[in-house]
Amino acid sequence: EEGMAKKPLTLAFDAIAGSRTDAMVVPPAYTAQVLVPWGTPLNDGASEWSEDLAMTPERQAASVGMHHDGMHPFALDTATASQHFLLVMNNEYIDEHALWGPQGGPTNLAEGRRPADEVRTEINAHGVTVVEVKKNADGRWSHVTGSPHNRRFTSATPMHLAGPVAGSDYVKTRYSPQGTIARGTNNNCANGYTPWGTYLTCEENWPDYFVKDEGRTRDDNRLGIATGRGRYGWETAAGDESEREDEFTRLIGNPTADDASGDYRNEARQFGYIVEIDPYSGEQAVKRTALGRFRHEGCWPGKLDAGEPVVFYSGHDSRNEYIYKFVSAAAWDPADAHAPGAEADRLAIGAKYLDEGTLYVARFDADGRGEWLPLTPASVTPDGRPLAEALGLAADDQAGVIIHTCDAADLMGATPMDRPEWGAVDPTSGDVYMTLTNNSKRTAEGTAPTFTHAGEAIEMPGSGYATAPVNAANPRANNEAGQIIRWREGDDVTRFDWEVFVFGAAASDTDNLSGLTEMNQFASPDGLWFDERGDDQGILWIETDNGYEGVAETTNDQLLAVVPAALQRADGSAAVVSGANQEQVKRFAVGPNGCEVTGIFATPDKTALFINIQHPGNWPASADATVPAEGTVRPRAATVVIQKQDGGKIGV
Ligand code: FEO
Ligand code: CA
Ligand code: CA
Ligand code: CA
Repeated sequence: EEGMAKKPLTLAFDAIAGSRTDAMVVPPAYTAQVLVPWGTPLNDGASEWSEDLAMTPERQAASVGMHHDGMHPFALDTATASQHFLLVMNNEYIDEHALWGPQGGPTNLAEGRRPADEVRTEINAHGVTVVEVKKNADGRWSHVTGSPHNRRFTSATPMHLAGPVAGSDYVKTRYSPQGTIARGTNNNCANGYTPWGTYLTCEENWPDYFVKDEGRTRDDNRLGIATGRGRYGWETAAGDESEREDEFTRLIGNPTADDASGDYRNEARQFGYIVEIDPYSGEQAVKRTALGRFRHEGCWPGKLDAGEPVVFYSGHDSRNEYIYKFVSAAAWDPADAHAPGAEADRLAIGAKYLDEGTLYVARFDADGRGEWLPLTPASVTPDGRPLAEALGLAADDQAGVIIHTCDAADLMGATPMDRPEWGAVDPTSGDVYMTLTNNSKRTAEGTAPTFTHAGEAIEMPGSGYATAPVNAANPRANNEAGQIIRWREGDDVTRFDWEVFVFGAAASDTDNLSGLTEMNQFASPDGLWFDERGDDQGILWIETDNGYEGVAETTNDQLLAVVPAALQRADGSAAVVSGANQEQVKRFAVGPNGCEVTGIFATPDKTALFINIQHPGNWPASADATVPAEGTVRPRAATVVIQKQDGGKIGV
C-alpha cells in the first residue's frame, strides 16, 4: 500500500500566533466569511433575523438551527460541485440565553413549568439544517432563500427505525406501538456521509434530555438518562395534560407498565443512533440501529474497495468509553456510488449496507496491536460465556445487544478511551485517525465503577462512570490536553496496528510529549478531517474544543493542519510517538472568544474550506443576567468560509 506514491505536499503558510479576540483569525492572504448563522431564514416562513427578534416555533422551523457542528456538502451537479451544493449541517444544542435574550428568557412558570411555545421553539432549534448555498461572481458565498431543497429535521420530526432494534419490544412506544417510528433527533454532534450520497447525523448527548426518576433500566443508568429535570426542562412544558402528553411526555419516564398501554418507558430507546438522511429527497430520516446505541460523536466511512464490505467508524464521547467499527454484510458494489443529479433510491441503498452487518468494539493492546471484538449474541466473552448470556438476554437477541451496546463492550473487554470524538480516514492508505479529547476520570490505578441515583450508589457493570486506569493508548492520568490516535487495519477484519499520532499540550507542560511550541500548542482535539487531493498527499485538519487552561490562556479554539508521515508499525514496545509528525503541525486559524471550532470540509477543488463556529461569545455575561452587557452582541453560531485572496488552493 505504501507503493501508492503521492506527491509530497508542503504546507505553504506560516503558522499563526494564538489569539484571544472576538474575531476569526486566518493567515495573511486568506479571507473568512460568515455564512448561514443561526436564525437565517430558509424560506418565506421566517422574517429576517434581527438583534431584537423574538424567535417563535414557526420562525425557528423555517430558519437555520442553532449551534452548528458537523456538516457535509452534497453537490447538485458534479461540474459545479465546488461552487454550488446543499450544505447539510447539524444543530447540536442551544444557548438559551442567546435564543431568548431580548425577551429575558428562558422562562420558568409556576411549579417549574416552561411555556409550551418556548419548548417548541427550542425543539425546532435542534436537529439538522439542509440549505442550498452557492458561490457568487464576486467570490463570496450566499444561501438560496426559498430553495425547495431547504428543510429542517428537528427534535420533533418523525423518523424511521431500521436494523436489529426496529420492531423489537425495546422500542414499542405509545407513539409507535409497532416500534418502527421514532420522534425526532437531537444532540446531533459530528457527522458522516456515505459513498451513496446520504448524510449521517449522530446522536451524542441525547440522554440529558430524557428524565426518568423511577423504573430505571440498566441502559438508562449506563448512558446517563437524566433524573429530576432534563437539560432544558422540555418535559415541564405547560398546557392541557392530554395535549402535553402527546407532544412532550416522550421526554418523561416513570413508567411501570408497557408503553403500548400508555406510559413512556421506551422513549429514550429510540435515541442513541446513527441517523441517515437523503439530502436530495423529502423522505424521512432513518435511524440505523445496527451501528450501535450510545453517545455517538460521529460516523466516518473507511476506505472503500469494490467487492469488500463497507466500513464505518464511530466513537462514544464519554469518559472511558469506546471506539467502534461497523462492517457491512453486503460487499460494496460500485454501481451504488453516488452520482450528483442522478436518480437513485439512496435510503434503499442505505438499508443494504447499514441494516445488516457486524458491530465491533476496539481493544488496544500495549504492544501496538489491537483487536476488534464483535458484539453479537454468540460472541464469546473473555471468561468464556456467550455475550447474550453474559448480558442476561435471550440467545438470539441482537436487538438487546444493540440496546446494551456499552455493557456488551464492557463484557468483551474493550479498552476505555479518553473520550473519542472525531475520526478521519486517510483516503490513500485507509489509516484511521481519531481524536481523544481529554479525560478527567483517568488515574494511575483506576477505581471501581459506581453510579449514584437518589443518593444510593448502584454498582455498574460498565466503565461509563468509572475512573479508569491508564493504558498504553491512553497513558496520561487526568488527561487534560488529549491526544490523537491512529490505526491501520490488518489483513484479518479483527486485527489492527495502532500508535499515538500526537499528544496535545501547552508548550510549557512537563508532559508535552510531542514537543509542541507556542505556535502549534493545542488541547482537546475534537474535529478532524482528511482532505483528498488526487495525486498529492492530503492534509489532516485538527479542530479544538479546549477547556484546558494551559492552552486557553494563550489562544481561543483553533484549526491546525498537518501532513502526516507514514504510520510506523509498532515494534512490540508501548505506544509509538512518531516525532516526525508533530513538528509539522501548524496553526491555521483561530476562532472568536468563547467558541469551539468544529465541522469541516473543503470544496472538491480545495479553494474554499468550510468550518463551523459553535457557541461563540459570552452573552449575557452570566447565566443570571437577563440583559447583555453594554457593547456586546447577541451571539450566533455560524458557518465560516475560508478562502485565499488569489482563489488558490487552501493550505498550499
Ligand atoms: Fe458534541 Fe463530543 O462533542
Ligand atoms: Ca460541539
Ligand atoms: Ca465534538
Ligand atoms: Ca468536545
